Amino acid sequence: MQIHNLSEQNSILNTFISEIRDVVIQKDSMRFRRNIERIGEVLAYEMSKSLIYHASTIETPLGKSCVNLFDNDVVLCSILRAGVPLHQGLLNYFDDAENAFISAYRHHRHDPESFEIVVEYLACPNLENKTLILADPMLATGQSLVSTYEALKPFGIPKEIHLVNVIGAQDGIDFIDDYFPKNTHLWIATVDDDLNSQGYIVPGLGDAGDLAFGEKLQR
Ligand code: URA
Repeated sequence: MQIHNLSEQNSILNTFISEIRDVVIQKDSMRFRRNIERIGEVLAYEMSKSLIYHASTIETPLGKSCVNLFDNDVVLCSILRAGVPLHQGLLNYFDDAENAFISAYRHHRHDPESFEIVVEYLACPNLENKTLILADPMLATGQSLVSTYEALKPFGIPKEIHLVNVIGAQDGIDFIDDYFPKNTHLWIATVDDDLNSQGYIVPGLGDAGDLAFGEKLQR
C-alpha cells in the first residue's frame, strides 16, 4: 500500500485539522462539518494527481485547447454516518463520480472495550474495473474499512482503490496494509500514535459522527 500522509508537508490543511481537533472549536457542528468537507477537498485534489489521464481537445469560442483529463470512472463510497461531510468534500471535486453508501457501526455486546462491526445498509453501483475511493474520516482499528471492503466484493473488482481518511492511528494503518491489494493508495490528512482501550484515536478528536450530527444512543 502506498501511504500519502499529507501532514508531512505544511499547508493550510494544518489549520483545518487543528480546528476539528480543538475541544472548543469542534463544538460548532456546522464548522466541524465544513472543515471535514474542506479536508475532503484537499485530499481529492492531492489524490487526483495519481489518476490516469488522457489527452483531450476542448473547443473554445476562439480555437482548440489541449488538456489532459482523468478517466472519469470514479466510484465514491462512504461509510455512514460520519463519512457524509467527507463524501461531500470529495464529491465537490469529483463532480461525475458514481456513489456508494454503506452503514457500518460498532456493536458493543456487553463489554465497552470490545465490539464487532455490523454492516446493515449498502447501495452500490458496479465496481468492475472502476477507480474506487473508499472514504472514512477516522481510521482507528481499520475494522470498518475491512468490513466495507468485504461487503463491496460482490459488486466487482475495481482497477484501483484509494482509501481516504482524515485522522488515522498507526495500528489501524498497519492492519489495513496487510489486508488491501498492494496497489492500494492511502490518502490521509494526519496520523496519530495511539488508540485507547475503546478503539478511539488518541489524541484524535473524539467521535466524528457525534461532532458532525449530534450524540446518538448506544445500541
Ligand atoms: N471513530 C471516531 O469517530 N473517532 C475515533 O477516534 C475512532 C473512530
